[in-house]
Amino acid sequence: MQFDEVVLGRRSIRGYKPDPVPRALIEEVIGLAMRSPSSMNTQPWNFYVITGEPLNRIRAGNTERMIAGVPQSREFRTGQGFAGKHRDRQVGVAKQLFSAMGIEREDKEERQDWVLRGFRQFDAPVCVIVTYDRELDGSDDTPFDCGAVTTALVLAAWSRGLGTVINSQGIMQSPVVREHAGIAEDQIIMKSIALGWPDFDFPANAVVSERKPVREAAVFVGFEDQAQGGSA
Ligand SMILES: Cc1cc2nc3c(=O)[nH]c(=O)nc-3n(C[C@H](O)[C@H](O)[C@H](O)COP(=O)(O)O)c2cc1C
Repeated sequence: MQFDEVVLGRRSIRGYKPDPVPRALIEEVIGLAMRSPSSMNTQPWNFYVITGEPLNRIRAGNTERMIAGVPQSREFRTGQGFAGKHRDRQVGVAKQLFSAMGIEREDKEERQDWVLRGFRQFDAPVCVIVTYDRELDGSDDTPFDCGAVTTALVLAAWSRGLGTVINSQGIMQSPVVREHAGIAEDQIIMKSIALGWPDFDFPANAVVSERKPVREAAVFVGFEDQAQGGSA
């Protein structure tokens, strides 16, 4: 696949075929992702790739605790709830997903089912937990580097026909993940990525989320001094 095809084609996948993903393919994808740049080449990231029974135990533990109302417990700072334009974008993509799935606003049961799906890692055959070295905790560079490698991972996966969804739902009950994935004490749990072969019949997988325009995001400085029209 060409770069543009990968970047423009990728979208979060929330419905998977049950087929297993070969370990060698996941190793290849992680290897590609790890070509990402990192602060001073520290490469603070690590990956716990989980499938089978341990993943089922994590699904069950997450679901049980969320239903029981156990408060979230993540291993890094989280901000306030979203407001303003950020809240609007959050609601915007949720509306797209619910509409694709035919879930009505008032249908509490279906909405709850949808949320629980996330805590089961969308029933994907594989879950990758991204962690970072605890000794680098406190530097904002570290989560930045984890974000870079995670984005590269989901793009590399897509280029090989694999779907993913980066998610916080999988690590909201981090003690469950730590226990069943056997995460080492010198690692901090950052994020979860569900991974597997996309089920393209699953309606939410067709959703293409919106982006603000480049002119809203990018400020160009000094360009007015440049000759227009390119490479003169
Ligand atoms: C840090 C992060 C956390 C996310 N957490 C969740 C999540 O918990 N559940 C979910 O369904 N999607 C989650 N997503 C996926 C986003 O909703 C999705 O990337 C965004 O809406 C853009 O859509 P796209 O990935 O299809 O382009 C998360 C994405 C990121 C980068």
